[in-house]
Amino acid sequence: MSFQNLLVLREDPVAIVQLNRPKVLNALNLALMQELVEVLHQLDHDEKVRCLILTGDEKAFAAGADIREMAEAGPIEMLQRNTIALWDQVQAISKPIVAAVSGYALGGGCELALLCDIIVASETARFAQPEINIGVIPGAGGTQRLARTLGKHRAMEFILTGRPMLAQEALAVGLACRVVPPEACLDEARKLAGEICQRSPLAVKLAKEAILKAFETGLQDGLDFERKCFYLLFGSEDQKEGMKAFLEKRKAEFRGK
Ligand code: CAA
Repeated sequence: MSFQNLLVLREDPVAIVQLNRPKVLNALNLALMQELVEVLHQLDHDEKVRCLILTGDEKAFAAGADIREMAEAGPIEMLQRNTIALWDQVQAISKPIVAAVSGYALGGGCELALLCDIIVASETARFAQPEINIGVIPGAGGTQRLARTLGKHRAMEFILTGRPMLAQEALAVGLACRVVPPEACLDEARKLAGEICQRSPLAVKLAKEAILKAFETGLQDGLDFERKCFYLLFGSEDQKEGMKAFLEKRKAEFRGK
């Protein structure tokens, strides 16, 4: 797999995708986002891969959508390009995505991290939705997803001021699940991905789908969906193996079947 704006490292069953436009702090232009969606879809369909890691470099996870690319555009042009639909496609990936975030995660970069399922932040991570400083608002889900993660009042303060949120605050408000020194960030994400890879891939896939449902439906619909996924898994070899291994006091060997 070779891309202009990404590096892909296979460590099966984990695959690491690194955003790679360092000169512009990994600003997310159309070409990068198209490549990202392409590689994520490929990896999602690759049976050897069970968990994905998305990362940037030490200075930036991503400093936002590419301002140079949109500064002169009009609304119809923006509508026709509809670059932001590419962010939506990240949400369609069925395998878990762990974001390893060092440095800037701004605007569309913060929104990309929010689209990942788990965020490991390094001590240098700096999240913000600074669009308000350049005369717009978040456009790739920030107002909706942050309102759900932070609650209305914190999201208002964060987005209306565009102020940075450092790693420890991100941990305290539930955005990041772990904060580690910058040199340990990718390894911590690897460790987490490795743990997930030891679980049944079918159960992991349905657990992710059920959790995401919680943001889209009312409680009862979500509970119904969860219960059907739970019952469905009783048709898998992994469920038989998992419960048998428990009763035989040994480690289960899941095959994703
Ligand atoms: N788009 C395009 N280029 C960007 C960029 C972006 N979002 N962020 C940084 N760059 C470029 C700079 O233009 C600069 O390029 P040149 O060397 O060619 O001038 C290079 O990256 C390095 O940046 P700086 O010189 O500015 O580095 P700094 O260390 O002084 O500042 C920074 C770093 C605070 C992150 C600053 O670059 C910055 O504020 N960037 C913009 C952040 C932003 O507003 N992001 C939101 C974008 S809009 C959006 O994302 C909409 C959405 O919801 C989808």
